[in-house]
Amino acid sequence: MTPAAAPTLPGVERIIVTGGTVLDGTADVPGAKNSVLKLMAASLLAEGRTVLEGVPTIVDVRIMAELLRRLGAEVEHDAASRTCVVDVPAEVGHRADYELVRAMRASISVLGPLTARLGRADVAVPGGDAIGSRGLDLHVEGLRAMGAEVHVDHGYLVTQAPPGGLHGADVHLAFPSVGATENLLMAATLADGRTTLQGVAREPEIDDLVDLLVAMGAQVGGRGTSRLVVDGVRRLGAVRHTVVPDRVVAGTWAYAAAVTGGRVHVRGGRLEHLGMVADKLRAAGAEVDAVADGFVVRGPRRPRAVDVATLPYPGFPTDLQPFALALAALADGSGVLTENLFEARFRFAHELERLGADLVVDGSHVLVRGRPSLSGAPVEASDIRAGAALVVAGLRAEGTTEVHGVAHVDRGYEDVVASLRGLGADVRRDVAAVPDERLGGVLG
Ligand code: EPZ
Repeated sequence: MTPAAAPTLPGVERIIVTGGTVLDGTADVPGAKNSVLKLMAASLLAEGRTVLEGVPTIVDVRIMAELLRRLGAEVEHDAASRTCVVDVPAEVGHRADYELVRAMRASISVLGPLTARLGRADVAVPGGDAIGSRGLDLHVEGLRAMGAEVHVDHGYLVTQAPPGGLHGADVHLAFPSVGATENLLMAATLADGRTTLQGVAREPEIDDLVDLLVAMGAQVGGRGTSRLVVDGVRRLGAVRHTVVPDRVVAGTWAYAAAVTGGRVHVRGGRLEHLGMVADKLRAAGAEVDAVADGFVVRGPRRPRAVDVATLPYPGFPTDLQPFALALAALADGSGVLTENLFEARFRFAHELERLGADLVVDGSHVLVRGRPSLSGAPVEASDIRAGAALVVAGLRAEGTTEVHGVAHVDRGYEDVVASLRGLGADVRRDVAAVPDERLGGVLG
């Protein structure tokens, strides 16, 4: 009699990578996750239909759409045309639920628009995540400087503007926080008077938000610099806007070329947003050339070791650090990587060790001694970029790499498997049966 199969739980998705392919082909770049989420939040500043183009079909966009629906907006996202319409009514809600904020920290970016438009907001405090503590003090200090009363109540950040609404202020950011810059910029657009924001973030996603706000009728000066000057207006109008391309996705495809020694045409990527990244790839031996509709990366047969330190833009982006680490693990020589933004972003390094990487983590530094190749193993993604970097590292590992925690990757990449298969990679998704431990092998 054939023994009964062990009972299993509903499967767990994983990405299976078989290493050894030298990539060759074209990969596309959609609009930036780290811009579109804020553009969707900014739509709350004006009654009417905001139309965003180039919107990727990723989990985080779905979460933001759900958040806006719960605030009273209608949201339609057409995946085929990558168009998202946010129709904001005259009256919107002021509470962003814990359930959604917990799923996506970027939900905090409704704080500024709601406080400015309604004079109040209740937004669940996101707390830390896999990459670090993720403070909010700069958001709070800035809103207080604009006259808001801000406190935490039962896990919610509660803001209350003064009777006449927020007023202009001089705000100095102690650190060029992306999120704080965006929230304070959006809040200042409807504040009474002039707000000067000094020491702000200069990421291309900030410029994209400034472009949307100005198109909506906001008065913002200093685009692209570390000092933004905002003269508040009484009302903004809903507009149509195309999202800036995703430089982190573009960088992912660039590193995939470098790690496999392949050639990738990054279609729709903006090389000017990846200056420091291109420098580091060239220093590692890659060729990086701009072309009419993006850029092309030709990876070296064996990368040279380079040191990388993450910094706010235009420094090396922390979101591409895991990819630089994967490349360093394959380099000819030793390199040091330094993470200056998120204290826990080297958790990923230990998963890379499972693929045979030779490295030592020491606080915010990792010393990596490069090896000719890695060997496939089951690994676990702890966040979006770590997950994608494990898939890319698996492309250069002997045998099979199983990446678990795929849900993280889906938060920031449209269909990483299809994109890499389009470059010739042997990658697939599957659902692994999970033995039902509750039975503890009774039938074993
Ligand atoms: C944005 O996060 C991005 N997320 C992150 O990308 C990116 O890594 C980060 O900017 C830096 O470029 C989105 O845009 C949705 P910060 P954000 O405020 O806004 C500290 C990805 O993989 N800080 O610039 O949260 C904070 O703790 C994600 O796509 C305070 O101390 O980043 C961190 O150490 C991961 N107090 C540092 O500043 C504050 O009030 C940078 O944070 C605010 C921030």
